[in-house]
Amino acid sequence: LIRSVSLRRILDSRGNPTVEADVLTDSGGFGRAAAPSGASTGEYEAIELPPGEAIASARQHAVPRLVDEVHAGNQREVDAALRGADGTDDFSTVGANSAVAISMAAAKAGADVLGAPLFQHLGGTFRGGDLPIPLGNVLGGGEHAKAATHIQEFLAVPHGAPNVSEAVFANAAVHDRIGELLDERDMPAGKGDEGAWAPAVTDAEAFDIVAAATDDVAADVGFDVAVGLDVAASELYDAESEVYRYGDVERTPDEQVDYIADLVDEYDLAYVEDPVEEDDFDGFADLTDRVGDRTVLCGDDLFVTNVERLRRGIDEGAGNAILVKPNQIGTLSDAVDAVELATRNGLEAVVSHRSGETEDTTIAHLAVATGAPFIKTGTVGGERTAKLNELIRIAEDAV
Ligand code: PGA
Ligand code: ZN
Repeated sequence: LIRSVSLRRILDSRGNPTVEADVLTDSGGFGRAAAPSGASTGEYEAIELPPGEAIASARQHAVPRLVDEVHAGNQREVDAALRGADGTDDFSTVGANSAVAISMAAAKAGADVLGAPLFQHLGGTFRGGDLPIPLGNVLGGGEHAKAATHIQEFLAVPHGAPNVSEAVFANAAVHDRIGELLDERDMPAGKGDEGAWAPAVTDAEAFDIVAAATDDVAADVGFDVAVGLDVAASELYDAESEVYRYGDVERTPDEQVDYIADLVDEYDLAYVEDPVEEDDFDGFADLTDRVGDRTVLCGDDLFVTNVERLRRGIDEGAGNAILVKPNQIGTLSDAVDAVELATRNGLEAVVSHRSGETEDTTIAHLAVATGAPFIKTGTVGGERTAKLNELIRIAEDAV
């Protein structure tokens, strides 16, 4: 049984406080995990409380339901206890940040008791051997870097890589090559919240630079490295005037769908996340009809890792992939439910970090455990490489 749950405030990668949980079991199992935090958060995400409040509330409501009551190794029971303690649909009592930290820490304690790696504990013996392709944020702006591109993330997609390690290094090489190209063009650049280059360039210039860099790296490594996007279109959408604003350029919802469809063809985009705003299931479905046969169209703010929103997307043909962020929904069980519903219906799962991260590596294990075809967890920077390096270690073990 769980003997203790301790909670504390620690730093995230932006320097903001976040919640860390330690779970200890009677048999000496130990797990520690921390909640990440978004900047371009979806309207329908579970509620992140200020960490101090989330910790106080979890100590009052959740910890008594876990200690001496639940086995850390029984993830469903741990997560049901968290839901029961909270009593709302969106974790607004306990805070999704406390909930997800405890859920992940309990999973690690459960794995520790078994003496198994976390991916094995979560995925089981029959999980299959496929490892996720890492999507690497190499250049961007939006809410992650204000003076840079309107599109939030330009991603390297090393889908021809023979293994995880070569994929991870290819993404780093694209990031490095972009740095060189920016230097050559006299375009000084800092980095955004996820370590991607954040130059003050137009989106058109960004496409040009990222396409050149992925081509150069592909030629070098000898496998295909494509370009992907997270448009994070909800952040560009002005609901009052019903237009998407790219600086001075405005696009109506129909024009937005045309624009994205054209980009898919022009740049052979392998992946596009949140191409339209989070309430536009119709626009998402329209785009899926038009280009869903040749690119991954992934809902992040659209689905928020929520099976009810995903079910609606499946019914309406909106998208062919779901982004999976455990803190959007509050527990690992809920995140796994979203992956399973997606997979049963032919959608792909993309397990993802947040822009505010810690050194926690749970998502690398979750991606492997669920057999997700993709993981999105940045390219450089310690809180990103923590996950990527864990994936490289897992790959030694898992196949
Ligand atoms: P966020 O951004 O973590 O700031 O929400 C990541 C994303 O939109 O995928
Ligand atoms: Zn996103």
